[in-house]
Amino acid sequence: MKFPYLSCLVLLIVLSAPGCSVKQPHQVAIASAHPLATQAGFEILHKGGNVYDAAVAVSAALAVVEPSGSGLGGGGFWLLHRESDGLDIMVDGREKAPLAAHQDMYLDASGQVLSALSLNGALAAGIPGMPAGLVHLSKKYGKLSLAESLQPAIRYAEQGFEIDVRHQKLLALRKEVLNQDAATAAIFLTQGQLPAKGSLLVQTDLAGTLKQLAAYGQAGFYRGTVADQLVQSVQQGGGIWRLDDLSSYQVLERQPVSGSYKGMHITSAALPSSGGIVLVETLNILEKIDLEAVDSITRKHLISEAMRRAYHDRALYLGDADFVDVPVARLLNKQYAQGLASTIRTDKALPSDYLTGQMAVKQGGRNTTHFSIIDTEGNRVAATLSVNYPFGAGLVAAGTGVLLNNEMDDFVSAENAGNGYGLVGGAANAIAPEKRMLSSMTPTFLEKDGRIAVLGTPGGSRIISMVLLATLDFAEGNPPKSWVKVKRFHHQYIPDQILYEKNGLSAAEISGLQSLGHSL
Ligand code: DON
Repeated sequence: MKFPYLSCLVLLIVLSAPGCSVKQPHQVAIASAHPLATQAGFEILHKGGNVYDAAVAVSAALAVVEPSGSGLGGGGFWLLHRESDGLDIMVDGREKAPLAAHQDMYLDASGQVLSALSLNGALAAGIPGMPAGLVHLSKKYGKLSLAESLQPAIRYAEQGFEIDVRHQKLLALRKEVLNQDAATAAIFLTQGQLPAKGSLLVQTDLAGTLKQLAAYGQAGFYRGTVADQLVQSVQQGGGIWRLDDLSSYQVLERQPVSGSYKGMHITSAALPSSGGIVLVETLNILEKIDLEAVDSITRKHLISEAMRRAYHDRALYLGDADFVDVPVARLLNKQYAQGLASTIRTDKALPSDYLTGQMAVKQGGRNTTHFSIIDTEGNRVAATLSVNYPFGAGLVAAGTGVLLNNEMDDFVSAENAGNGYGLVGGAANAIAPEKRMLSSMTPTFLEKDGRIAVLGTPGGSRIISMVLLATLDFAEGNPPKSWVKVKRFHHQYIPDQILYEKNGLSAAEISGLQSLGHSL
C-alpha cells in the first residue's frame, strides 16, 4: 500500500534554550508528540528521576498513547548528552532481522518484489529493540527503577486515553490492514470502523506486557510468556521469528556522528541510521557554498543538489556497519564534500542518472515519533522511535497488545527497487540474519554561540532533509518557531525530483527551479 506523499502529518519536535548559556538552560523542557507522554516525563522528574528516567517514561507513554508512531514492538535511537562528564552516546535499540531472514524473502519466483510482504503482517516485522532500549536506559543512566518509570505508561494503558483526530486520521490510513486480524481490529477499531473522537482506547494486554517488563526487565519481554506469545502469533501470521531471535536481542551503544558547519557543532545519529552521516555530509557540501549570497530559487536549487549527492551516497554505501564496510570517515570528510560541491552548477540541475548508482521510482507513506528533553544542568535526550508505517505491520501479537513493526521494509529487498519511501540501495543494506535495517531517523543536538537545539522528526526518507532545513535555520540564528515553520522541500536522489510541501514553493520558485532542470 502506498500513501499519497503529502498526506502524512509531519512533526518537527524541537527544543532550544535561547539566549542562555548552553550549560544552564533556565528550566526543564520536554517536547513530544502527545501531551500525556510529555506529562509522563514531568511526573517522573518530579519523583526524583533524571532526564534519562524521563526519556524512559516518555518513550513508554508514547508506545501507549501514540501507537501509530512507535511502540514496544518497534525500535529507535536515543541520543544522550550527560553534562557532568560531557558524554555523548547513542543508544541503538533498532530492530534486527530475524535469524531465518534471507536476502530474497520478499521476492516472488521471478525476482519481483512483493512489497506487501515487507509492509503488512507478520513477515514484515523485525525483532523489536524498544523494550531492551528502555531497560538499558533505565539501568545504565537512570536513577529510578524501571518499574517506577513505566508507571505512567501502565496507567494510560489500563485506564485508557481519549482518541484525537490525528489518531483517527492515521488509523484511516491502515484500517484495511488492521481489519485483516480480528483481535487487532477489536483493539483499535469499532466494529471494523474508526472509533469516535473522544472515545477511550484501553489496552489491557499492553498494560500486562508493560508490567512484565517492569517486573522482570529484559527477560519480561524477550523470554517467558510474552516471548512465547509473540513468537506464536508471528508464526501463525506467516512470519519467521523464533524464541532465540528474542533471547539474543541486544541493545548497542554507538558513538554519535559529529560535525561542524560555520561555527556550529552537530551531534547526530550514527549507523545503523543514515541520519547523522547524510545530515553532516550535506552540511559539509553546503559549507563550501555561500547560501546567503544567492536568491531564494538558487538557494533551494543548491540545497537540493547537495541533498541529491548525500542521498546518493546513502544509497551506495550505507548499511549496518556491523555487517558491511562503510566508508564513514570519507563521507564525513570536508575535502570529500569539497569535491562533491565542485560538481554543483549554479545554473543547472545535474540529473541523478549522471551520478553512478541505482534507479527506482517508487515512493510512499509512513509514521514515527520524536521527543526532546533538556534539564537545567544541560543533560539532554533526543529520541526518534518508530514502528515504521502508521500502526506498523497492522498486526497485534495476540495476548500481548504489542503491535508488530514493518521495519523490514527499510532493507533493500532487491537492488534498484525503492522501498516504501522510494529509497534505493544496494548490497550494504541487503537483508541478512540479525542485521539492522538502515534508518533515516535523525535525533540531533546543535550548539552555536551559546544556543542549543535538541531536535528530530518523523517523516521517513524526508526526516534528514527536514532536520537539515531546521539546522540551517538554527545556524542563521532563528528561533524554534521559525525552524518548525520552514517550508519543506526534499531531494533524495531517486526519484529525481524535488518534493515540496503544499504551498512550500512560490510560483516564481517553481518555474525558476523547473528552468534549472528540476522536476517538481
Ligand atoms: O527508520 C526509518 O528511517 C523509518 N522506519 C522511519 C519511518 C518514519 O519516519 C515514518 N514517519 N513518518
